[in-house]
Amino acid sequence: MSKQKLVQYGDPVLRKVTSRVIKFDKSLRKLIEDMFETMYANEGIGLAAPQIGVSKRVLVVDVDYASKRYVDEKTNKEEASYSPLVLINPVVIQKEGEMVSKEGCLSFPNVYFDVIRYKKIIVRYQDLLGKERKMLVEDNLLCRCIQHEIDHLDGKLFVDRPADADEVKKVLDENGFGGIDSVAPPILIA
Ligand code: CO
Repeated sequence: MSKQKLVQYGDPVLRKVTSRVIKFDKSLRKLIEDMFETMYANEGIGLAAPQIGVSKRVLVVDVDYASKRYVDEKTNKEEASYSPLVLINPVVIQKEGEMVSKEGCLSFPNVYFDVIRYKKIIVRYQDLLGKERKMLVEDNLLCRCIQHEIDHLDGKLFVDRPADADEVKKVLDENGFGGIDSVAPPILIA
């Protein structure tokens, strides 16, 4: 496993629609390991493959380890609680409602603002072995995080879904990112 360099906003790979994974082989497992290592090293709760420069339809999330800690009774040390999840070729097949709260992104250091998301989604995806699965997530951080990461796979970024467009312009400017790039991602036909 090795930690990879994070791609920053402005790199065209973040605006590309990724290609579907066909082969569930060793190189896919290596990619997933690298993605987890990079996500954990940067204290992220989710990471999409384009964020390490790989334009493939793969995302990883772990919404627990950064916030859920416990003290190990034997060592008396604080330990993280891990809930790693891998979604390959994910597609949102049902969505409803709306929720708004602050988001950040590993490709935009120090940038946080309110983002609009669906409140409830059903996602169809494949697991590490290529088996097709579905997941319902509703009204929580995982629901928000999966939508953020699936957007990455479609060349969309959280700056495209602001609750307040003026707030985003201001915070991007303050962090030296300039304006929102205007490359329109191609429409994904699921
Ligand atoms: Co992101």
